[in-house]
Amino acid sequence: MKILVTGGAGFIGSNFIHYWLGKHPDDNIINLDLLTYAGNLENLKEIEHLNNYEFVRGDICDRDLVNDLVKKVDLIVHFAAESHVDRSVFSPRKFVDTNIAGTHNLLEAARNTGGVRFHHISTDEVYGHLGPNDPPFNEKTPYAPRSPYSASKAASDMLVQVYFTTYKLPITISHCSNNYGRFQFPEKLIPLIITNLMLGKKIPLYGDGKQIRDWIHVDDHNRGVETIIEKGRIGDTYCLGGNNEVTNIDIARMILDIMGHDEDKIEHVADRPGHDVRYAIDFSKINKELNWEPKIDFQKGLREKIKWMIENEQWWRRIRSGEYQDYYKQQYG
Ligand code: NAD
Ligand code: DAU
Repeated sequence: MKILVTGGAGFIGSNFIHYWLGKHPDDNIINLDLLTYAGNLENLKEIEHLNNYEFVRGDICDRDLVNDLVKKVDLIVHFAAESHVDRSVFSPRKFVDTNIAGTHNLLEAARNTGGVRFHHISTDEVYGHLGPNDPPFNEKTPYAPRSPYSASKAASDMLVQVYFTTYKLPITISHCSNNYGRFQFPEKLIPLIITNLMLGKKIPLYGDGKQIRDWIHVDDHNRGVETIIEKGRIGDTYCLGGNNEVTNIDIARMILDIMGHDEDKIEHVADRPGHDVRYAIDFSKINKELNWEPKIDFQKGLREKIKWMIENEQWWRRIRSGEYQDYYKQQYG
């Protein structure tokens, strides 16, 4: 199979490429990524020499480039997005361009090429947020996005769904909860806590820190994506979650404990505007229909993630200094 992965230099996309080539070593992958601040080719050092892997630096909004690439593949796995909620609050425009117009561009190219299989990576955030006693989100939960990021993802999901309804494009969509694992950009909560502690800094927790996220290991997420690609019903959406609701302050406490620091490292700072209180996912559909469930224990996965960040200090230090952005020029001229 020939696959176009978009956003494959980011956190989940780069883990997906490692995962997929590990499981399907005869497949070919083209990785289309613009290398925004979030794209880091150093995530792919171990596989960049492979003959069945190709990197293309480019924008999913570039119509000619996308048309050319889509003609070469059997499957598109679409991760590329502006993904950070805080950035969307302060500069929403890029979220509209990449997440909505970029997704539309890919859909058009897939349609024009006679219906290339298309898997769209969405998020649980399109469903809004939950109160403490609400049932978890499932595939039937009405959309109620609450940030420019989640609104742009909701719009992109609807375009993907409409390309199935109107044009019979063979699509599937997955909605996953908060991921953690190696290669996560260190402005997101878990790697931010770890790197701040390693730098002797405080941990900034928004508001009271009692907001809840359902954490899942990135490899469980990508195994779910693989399951949907291989066995999912065309036109359907699937929710993926970790069965692991934890408050932000408890995440901070777990990391403080593992890394041997005291709670005085926690600093409560101004809250995120419109901060979503709780996310939780009911993944019983994919569990019953496709036999998927998350497998990686959170305590174990978190310890491994901390160990990885300690052993790969250069990786995150090069992000902080900006040096990671020179790697493209060094490798690709
Ligand atoms: P990320 O920000 O780490 O990576 C995004 C990648 O997309 C980067 O490599 C970036 O360079 C690339 N990109 C951005 N704009 C582009 C453009 N216009 N053209 C081509 N490439 C572009 O994001 P992530 O955390 O890996 O998330 C990947 C996908 O998964 C996103 O669609 C996100 O909405 C979704 N998602 C993320 C999580 C999570 O917890 N991180 C959970 C559920 C869903
Ligand atoms: O639920 C899936 C979503 O998870 C994805 O769609 C997004 O792409 C991904 O970024 C993530 O969104 P969150 O906003 O939940 O992730 P973030 O790591 O930014 O924040 C996690 C929680 O921690 C959230 O409640 C905000 C809080 N937080 C975050 C930061 C960066 C803090 O308290 N302090 C911080 O400095």
